[in-house]
Parts: sequence; C-alpha cells; structure tokens
Amino acid sequence: MKENLVSELCKSFPTPMYVFEEKKLAERVSYIKSRFGGIKICYAVKANPFIVKLLSSSVSRFEVCSGGEYHICNESGIDIEKLVISGVYKTPSVIEEIFARDGDMPIFTAESARQAELIENLAEKYGKRVRLILRLSSGNQFGLSENDIIDIIRKKADSKLFEILGLQYYSGTQKASLKRLKREITAIDDFLTRIYDETGFTARELEFGPGFPVMYFSEESFDEDNYISELCNMLDSMKNRTEITIELGRALAASCGSYLTKVVDTKSCRNENYAIVDGGMHQLVYFGQSMAMRKPFLQVLPQKEEESESIWNICGSLCSANDILVKQLPIKGLSVGDIMVFQNTGAYCMTEGISLFLSRELPTVLIIGANGTASESRKQYETYKLNMSDKIC
Ligand SMILES: Cc1ncc(COP(=O)(O)O)c(C=O)c1O
Repeated sequence: MKENLVSELCKSFPTPMYVFEEKKLAERVSYIKSRFGGIKICYAVKANPFIVKLLSSSVSRFEVCSGGEYHICNESGIDIEKLVISGVYKTPSVIEEIFARDGDMPIFTAESARQAELIENLAEKYGKRVRLILRLSSGNQFGLSENDIIDIIRKKADSKLFEILGLQYYSGTQKASLKRLKREITAIDDFLTRIYDETGFTARELEFGPGFPVMYFSEESFDEDNYISELCNMLDSMKNRTEITIELGRALAASCGSYLTKVVDTKSCRNENYAIVDGGMHQLVYFGQSMAMRKPFLQVLPQKEEESESIWNICGSLCSANDILVKQLPIKGLSVGDIMVFQNTGAYCMTEGISLFLSRELPTVLIIGANGTASESRKQYETYKLNMSDKIC
C-alpha cells in the first residue's frame, strides 16, 4: 500500500485493521475473467464476506455455505438466483426461509441424500421447482459418493420439483499441481460418462472448484498464466461437454486485502529482539505458515532506509507463546508506532483466527472505494460484549 494512504488511514481509524481495496479487486477479477474466457466465475463467499457487494455485478454466482453468508448476500443486494446454496450442513430453518421468500430461487447443492430430501420436501411444500447440483465427494465428509449420485439421478431426474443441472466438485485449496488437476478432471469426466451410461442423464453443468493457489511467502513462485491456460485446456478437452463454472475464493480475494497492525512495544531478551504488535494470530492466519518461519509479503512503514538493520521476531498481543507472526525478520530502524502492512491478506486471513481468545477486539474493516475514499465496513468491535447477556449490556 502507498505510505501516505497507510498514514492517513491510521490517523482516522484504529489499528489493527483490514483494508480491502475495490480497485485492486476489480483489476484481479478482470484479469481472471479475461484468462478464463467464456467460463463463468462463482465467488466462494467464505473467502471474504466483506467484498460481496463489490463483486455483485462482476461474477456470475456466489457460493454460500451458511445462514450468515446467505444473509450477507441478501443484505448486499445480490440477486437470489445468483446464489448457490451449498455446504455440508444446510440449516433447515435457513433453507425454509429461502423457500418462503417470494420470487426467484437460488441454486441448491445436495451433499447427501438427506439434503436432497430436505430440499425436495420444501419444494413440494412451497410449490416451487428448484435447480439442483449434486456435489461429488473427493473422499471426505463433503459431497455424495458416485453411487449415491446415480441413485438420486435415477429417482429424481424426472421429478417436477427438481431441475438437476449437474455436478459440483471441490477437493481442497492451494492446489498448484497440474497433474492432480488433470487426474481430478479426468475422473469427473469418466463419472459423467458413467452417469449417462447408467441413467441416460446428461449433465448440463459442472461447477468446479480447482483450489486455485495463491502465493503468500516471498520464497514461493507460481506461473499463474500457465496454470490457467492448462486448466482451461483440461476442461476444454473433457469428453462430456457441459457449461463450466469455476468456483474461486482466495484467487479472487487475496490480493485486494492488507492487514495493518501497529508496533506497540519492543524489547530484547536472551539475544532475541521482539516487536509486539496490537494485532496477532487471532486476526491474521496464513495458509501454509509454519511456526512463523516463512516470510509473508509485508511492508514496515514509515520506511527508514538510512537506518541500520536488526533481526526481529514479530509477536502479537495474545498470552500465547505461539502468537508470533514472523520470526527473524530483518527490518531497518524498527520502532514503536511503526505500522506493519501484511499484504495479500484479503482471503480467509481475517476469519480463520481464534478471534475470541483474550477477549480482544475484532479489527476494523475498511473498504477503499474505487474513488479512493475509505469507509468503515465494520467498526472495531469489542468482543467482551459477546460474553454478556442483553440484560447486562
Ligand atoms: C465448495 C467450495 N468451493 C470453493 C471454495 C473456494 O476455495 P479456494 O479459496 O481454494 O478457491 C471452497 C473453499 O473451502 C469450497 O469449500
């Protein structure tokens, strides 16, 4: 981030804070869309629920996995037919709330026979026909087995209550291996053939989450252009031609976000330097960080190029010896009041932490609009309030 922007933000809003930049997000989405050509993009809301509104017109679908995510999309004005109501547990009251609404319906995924039944019963009760995608399991608790999918298609493909569109598949995140992608796409393609051979059903759609990787640490490298073109070639050469939607979370959201935390104390102990920041691991979680040994992309501001370099351990504000954000980081002239800007933190980093530990605050969340102005999407929130009943509050 630009140094003067960081200093302006820190004058007006309390650290720690997350900052999501609309311009960076728009650039990222437009790069991804141009590389994927005609393939539709579905944004997995879990990656960052704060940017849903910013994506309202630039992606085709939003994958939603909880009542909370559904309400965020609703309040952000996302058209309901753009939602894919997904997830391993579909809270019956939330699903019923969706059915009870007037007007259009979202797409639903079914991850079990029981989920398909829940959706079917509600479709019957509310007199609605729903679009359904069957999630194929990759061998864990998510999705249905091949045999269960065949069974549902046999029983329900002609139902008046369902329009079965096809399959959803997602086997995990940060998958850089093209060989693994090839294996998975071939297996899905073979399964589509099996479905047709055994039931006569032709899938119209495949919603595929490749687990598109993002690099977080300075020592990593990744040829993104090549990855996307190889992925497109693999999808293109499937024997079963379906409409494809790519589900993406971190690949869309990561680069628009920064986490700003202030150095609040410094000390040396047994030949190690420690800088304590007002944030910590409860608010900043990196996929693949290992005991704080890897160096994430970060800036320390203001820059003090002329000063001498020391090696620092950057520690958060929790009472836990594990609360170390980076170990052995060389920094020039670090002092109390400096701001550490952890870059590329727009996806998952802010939601996967142990936010309630020590009853510290939830960080401020700012959106920098396309015109450069900052608005508070969430004020810093004192989590101790969550411990009190309404009466006490
Ligand atoms: C079904 C599904 N689709 C898409 C995603 C997004 O994954 P990623 O952030 O790796 O793109 C997830 C993440 O957990 C998911 O569960």
